[in-house]
Amino acid sequence: EGQQLPKTDLITLTRHVLDEQLRLGSDVTGDLTLLLTAIQVTSKFLAHNVRKARLINLVGLAGETNVQGEDQKKLDVLSNDIMINALRASGKTAVLVSEENEEAIFIEDRYKGRYCVVFDPLDGSSNIDAGVNVGTIFGIYHVPASSPGVIQDVLRPGSEMVAAGYTMYGSSANLVISTGNGVNGYTLDNALGEFILTHPDIKIPSRGKIYSFNEGNSKYFYPPVVGYLESIKFPADEKKAPYSARYIGSMVADVHRTLLYGGIFGYPNDKKSKSGKLRLLYEAFPMAFLTEQAGGIATTGTERILDIVPTSIHQRTSVFLGSKEDVLDLVKFYEKYA
Ligand code: AHG
Ligand code: MN
Ligand code: MN
Ligand code: MN
Repeated sequence: EGQQLPKTDLITLTRHVLDEQLRLGSDVTGDLTLLLTAIQVTSKFLAHNVRKARLINLVGLAGETNVQGEDQKKLDVLSNDIMINALRASGKTAVLVSEENEEAIFIEDRYKGRYCVVFDPLDGSSNIDAGVNVGTIFGIYHVPASSPGVIQDVLRPGSEMVAAGYTMYGSSANLVISTGNGVNGYTLDNALGEFILTHPDIKIPSRGKIYSFNEGNSKYFYPPVVGYLESIKFPADEKKAPYSARYIGSMVADVHRTLLYGGIFGYPNDKKSKSGKLRLLYEAFPMAFLTEQAGGIATTGTERILDIVPTSIHQRTSVFLGSKEDVLDLVKFYEKYA
């Protein structure tokens, strides 16, 4: 007595998503579930390789520059190849957009399916060589019945995504996903090779105690951001404690913490990065989608991120996301300085 037996009713990601889709009657073909299986496989492969990177000579530069002008790391290239191969082979995709490819990839007829996937194969790559958390971010659009799968199918507001998520490769591999019906988090059980539901129905606290900005850019920040940061570090109310700073420099890790603990994550546009740094399609949209599904807010400071209509696949945007009350406090500074 008192001894706990292991659970016999494991909720895997595949089971959970399939159940949900069948319940809602939204994907009776199971196509989305199969597409997510391809993404899960790449996440498992990457979780494994990120851990071994130092041992199998996967750290360091690949020797090429991507369209963003960033030096690609070996793991950026590897992750990208794995994602593209798995997504193509799934037979469920029509158009792919990756941070590491200047042009969108159009899947040949033999493998063509009804979904578009926009992705950041390896997020936080500047952190790899130090063994700090990195991740993969993805967003999924459904191709309209009338379309053969063209670039316009991904130049759509984030609110039209049918699913979005990320996998964080940290002390464990965590896959967090929303299919538009709340947010669920799964942890990779390495022995089973399955993502198991560990964080059902994630909700962001309505207020947090943490802010997450690269304050090293303060010199370039515009007045609303400077004013807001000042207000949380030196609260006008003497009895209020200032916020804690946490900034990892991997969006996946900073957003993951924000979803679980609350607070605000920000990467504003500034005098140096006029349009901001983070990419709309495969960084801001998926994270904004998850944030809203978890009950939080994601804004540019003046506009809801999910409402933006993209005009090009690699365009950048300002991003503030997190707890409702914290993000609204920041928005007040944008209104004040408007
Ligand atoms: P990536 O590694 O995919 O190019 O993304 C890097 C992004 C994001 O992960 C992070 O939030 C941000 O860049 C960090 O930028 P700074 O180093 O300028 O703080
Ligand atoms: Mn990059
Ligand atoms: Mn990134
Ligand atoms: Mn990346």
